[in-house]
Order: sequence, then structure tokens, then C-alpha cells
Amino acid sequence: MSRDACPSILDQCRSVLRRVLQEGDLAIDATVGNGHDTAFLAECVGATGKVVGFDLQEAAIANTRGRLDEQGFGDRVLLLQRGHETMVEALAENSIREKPRAVVFNLGYLPGGDHSLITRPETTLRALESALALLRPGGVIAVVAYPGHQGGSLEAESVLAWARKIPPAFAKASSYQFLNTARPAPFLISIMVENIPQPNE
Ligand SMILES: C[S@@+](CC[C@H](N)C(=O)[O-])C[C@H]1O[C@@H](n2cnc3c(N)ncnc32)[C@H](O)[C@@H]1O
Repeated sequence: MSRDACPSILDQCRSVLRRVLQEGDLAIDATVGNGHDTAFLAECVGATGKVVGFDLQEAAIANTRGRLDEQGFGDRVLLLQRGHETMVEALAENSIREKPRAVVFNLGYLPGGDHSLITRPETTLRALESALALLRPGGVIAVVAYPGHQGGSLEAESVLAWARKIPPAFAKASSYQFLNTARPAPFLISIMVENIPQPNE
């Protein structure tokens, strides 16, 4: 079967982001990890755009910085070693006033790092609320959740429950997951904010 006919979670996530992001946009990577998503976002927003990336771990920030420099995206990305739940304050403190068109969460632990240091439902939900409030009309939140690791199932369920409660007039929430797998498969949740102009747009 071709990749296009049955895209992986990552491909599906990227195709959603590619459809929404435009040159010159602001995008946020809420969990930079090893920087794959950050580099992808930096490519989508182009030389005139900006990406802000969050991670708690020094190693994640260093790995991401290395990847971005290697790919020539370093000067369009601001990396912050702090929790994504402080996103609103972090943007204000860095004088970033534009609204993001995309916010990406890749939950769980740092691949190749400490597997006990994982994203947590309480801070993830706080960050998701912030992202929803910050997004510009027509923007998207993309969350990849991993129910297969310890602690991951509770977090994945909390994100699903949160997404189901978003008023449909405000945003469309959807999910994408392979069902016939031996262990619960990761899934993508996308929250697409309606393109209703707001008074301050
Ligand atoms: C699955 S990894 C991200 C993978 C990454 N997007 C990539 O492309 O390589 C999850 C990351 O979330 C980070 N993390 C955990 N809690 C966090 C929080 N409250 N705020 C920001 N990052 C957090 C972890 O340190 C870890 O690096």
C-alpha cells in the first residue's frame, strides 16, 4: 500500500500543518524534543516567518539547536527552555505579539533521552487551553498522543476529552489513529479553529 493511501501519523500531522501554514507565519512547537517538528515548521513558515519552541530539557534544546543550525533554520527559531504551559507569558516576555497559525504538541518522552521525564496531563491541558486562546482564525493545533507508554494513556484520554468539549462553532476537532494494532497506537488530534475574523485581526 502506498504512503499516500495510508499516511503514517507523522505524515498526516505534517499534511495538516502544510495545508494551513503560510510563508511569514508564526508557529509554535510546544515540545521540541530532537527538533524534527521544529525544523519542519521552520521550513513551512519560510525565511520571513518565525517559530517558537519549548522544552523543559537542556538536551532537547541543544539537539534542536544543532539540527536547526545544520539545516540553516537557526535564525528563524527562538528556543525556550521552559514549560509549554507558560506559553502566553513567554510570548509576551519576548515581545512576540502576532498570533500563531499552528501549535504542535508531540507528547511523551524525549526519544534517546530519559523515558521517565514525560509530558503530563495537567500541564499539557493548560498549554492546550493557552494555544487555543492564542491561535489566529483558520489556525490549527496538532497533537500527537502516545497511549502505549506508562502514563501516556491517561494523558491521551485527557486530551481526547478536552477536544470533545470544544464548541463546534469555534473549532473542528478530529482524530486519526490506526485501530488494528497490537498495542494502542499513537494518534493525531487536530483542532482547526474556524476562520471567523476577530475584532483585533
Ligand atoms: C516526544 S518528545 C518531542 C519530539 C519532538 N517533537 C521531535 O520532533 O523530536 C516530547 C518532549 O516534550 C518535552 N516536555 C515534557 N514536558 C514538557 C513541558 N511541560 N513543556 C515543554 N516540553 C515538555 C520532553 O522533554 C520531550 O523532549
